Amino acid sequence: MRIYREKDYYSVSRRAANIISAYVIAKPDAVLGLATGSTPIGTYKQLVEWYEKGDIDFSETKTVNLDEYCGLTAENVNSYHYFMKDNLFSHINIDMENTHVPDGSADDIEKECTRYDKLIDSLGGQDLQLLGLGHNGHIGFNEPSDSFPTGTHKVKLTENTIEANSRLFDNIDEVPRYAITMGVRNILTARHILLVVSGADKADALRKTLYGPVTPQVPASILQLHPHVTVVADEAALPEEK
Ligand code: GLP
Repeated sequence: MRIYREKDYYSVSRRAANIISAYVIAKPDAVLGLATGSTPIGTYKQLVEWYEKGDIDFSETKTVNLDEYCGLTAENVNSYHYFMKDNLFSHINIDMENTHVPDGSADDIEKECTRYDKLIDSLGGQDLQLLGLGHNGHIGFNEPSDSFPTGTHKVKLTENTIEANSRLFDNIDEVPRYAITMGVRNILTARHILLVVSGADKADALRKTLYGPVTPQVPASILQLHPHVTVVADEAALPEEK
């Protein structure tokens, strides 16, 4: 595991964007696993900037997103479909046919989960999977539990996550209670995992992720077992050990 400790959020974003762009440049048809949340926004912004300068070409890139809220259509401003278009896809030359986000509005969620698992397999798995970190150590929407969930599945969000994510909704009652997420197996399938973390409020979750026991109570701790993980965190999220 390689850990980059950066000065601030801006440096985290640049470092992460550099790593992602290296894939897109070296392997134009790379499969990128993408994430939502506030943390990767700076990374996407940097990628858009480099695209506008003509330094990166996304025309062959394929993407698979980690998760989506249940019950929200792609047009809903709070959906992760919308987030991805708003923060990245509509600003670069990616072919939308090559972008994939689970369909949270599907009538049959079980069927949608199976379809998504097959889709990831058919793409040959992710070359690089970008991840943020939840305050309780969740990755995607894999919440703390008694076992590591495997494939794409429906989850009931914890109160902690609903509250954290409510800042993006008009009020907390509008936050969906369920989501579809890639499971831990889908995430670990990626050949390289890039975890981005920023802010003092994530320090405890990151410490447990990196140095605590591997346990489904801290889903991100499973990353300790993956052979190729890069962590990019700022000083606030990764304070120097005293
Ligand atoms: C959401 C997403 C996660 C993300 C997490 C942290 O719950 N499903 O993929 O990592 O929030 O988000 P933020 O970066 O906004 O703290």
